[in-house]
Amino acid sequence: AMPRFKLNSGASIPAVGLGTWQSEPGLVGKAVKEAVKVGYRHIDCAKAYKNEKEVGDALQELYKEGIVKREDLWITSKLWCTDHNDVEEALKGSIERLQCEYLDLYLVHWPCALKKDAEGTGPEDFVPLNIKGTWAAMEKCYESGLAKSIGISNFTVEKTKSLLSHCKVRPAVNQVECHPLWQQKKLWPYLKSEGIHLTAYSPIGSSNSPFADINVLELPTITKMAEKYKRSPAQIALRWNIQQGHSVLPKSTHADRLASNIELFDFEISEEDLDEFAKIEQHRLLRGDEMWVNDSTSPYKTVEELWDGDI
Ligand code: A2P
Repeated sequence: AMPRFKLNSGASIPAVGLGTWQSEPGLVGKAVKEAVKVGYRHIDCAKAYKNEKEVGDALQELYKEGIVKREDLWITSKLWCTDHNDVEEALKGSIERLQCEYLDLYLVHWPCALKKDAEGTGPEDFVPLNIKGTWAAMEKCYESGLAKSIGISNFTVEKTKSLLSHCKVRPAVNQVECHPLWQQKKLWPYLKSEGIHLTAYSPIGSSNSPFADINVLELPTITKMAEKYKRSPAQIALRWNIQQGHSVLPKSTHADRLASNIELFDFEISEEDLDEFAKIEQHRLLRGDEMWVNDSTSPYKTVEELWDGDI
C-alpha cells in the first residue's frame, strides 16, 4: 500500500498524489483512471484547473468497475480567489463536480482575493484579502465534515504566521512549489516546527511549462544520482521530496510515467547524497506573476511582497 504522512488533523495523506493542473480535457479523466489502476489513491484538484467534472466522471467509473471505493481515496480541492466570500458554496461546487460527497482536504489556493465575477487577475480584479473571514469560513467547512482537513497553498512564513495568530483550527497542510531546485529552505523548517505538513507541487519541475526556465530533471546532481541509483531523474527528484517528509503531486498523462512516478519506496537516497542536494543553487520556478499588480487594490504590489522576499 501507498505510504502516508500523518497530519495535525489526525488524517493521513498518501505520500504521492496525482497532479491534475494543466492536464488537458479529454486526457485528465484517462490519467485519473490509469493512475488509480496502478495504485494512486490521492488526486489533487482545484476549481481553477477547470477539469473537476471530468475527474469526477472518471472516479465514478472506477467505483462502478469496483476498482476503488470513495473512502479509499484522498481527494483535495482548492478555494479559488473569486470565492473568498462564498467558501461553503464553492466547496459544495467542487464536491458536486468531483461527485465525492466530502473532500479529504480543502485548501485556500492563494493568499489573494478577487472580485466574484473576475475572469482574470487584472488591476481592477483584486479586492482586499480578509484572511480572517476566509479562514473562519474554512473552519466551518471542517466542522461540518464537508472537508475532513483544511489548509493553505502558496503561503509564505509570514502569511502562515499571521493565520496562526487568529485561527481556531490550524491548517493541516501548506501546498507549495518544492523540488531540488526550490527546496523551500526558509518555509520548510518553519512549517515543520509548527506541525504543518508540506505538500510539494511541481515536484519534478513542471518541465513543459513556460515558467520552467531551468529543467529540474537535467540538473547535474539529479542525472548523477539517477545513474548511481539506477532510477529515472523524475524518481530521484520525487524521492528527495519524500525523504524530506513531504507528499508529492507529480502530474502526467502518460501511463508509463504514472506507473514509474509511484515506484519510490524500494530505494533510499543516502545521507551523504542528500548533502549534495543541499548544495544546489536555489531558484523558484513559479513566481506567481498573475497574483500581484502594481497600482491597484491588490494586496501585493511587487513579486517580493507576494512571497515576502523569499524568491
Ligand atoms: P506528461 O504529462 O506529458 O507526462 P510537474 O508534476 O512537476 O508539474 O511536472 C509535470 C511535467 O513533467 C509534465 O510535463 C509531464 O509530462 C512531465 N513528466 C511527468 N512524469 C515524468 C517522468 N517520469 N519523466 C519525465 N517527465 C515527466
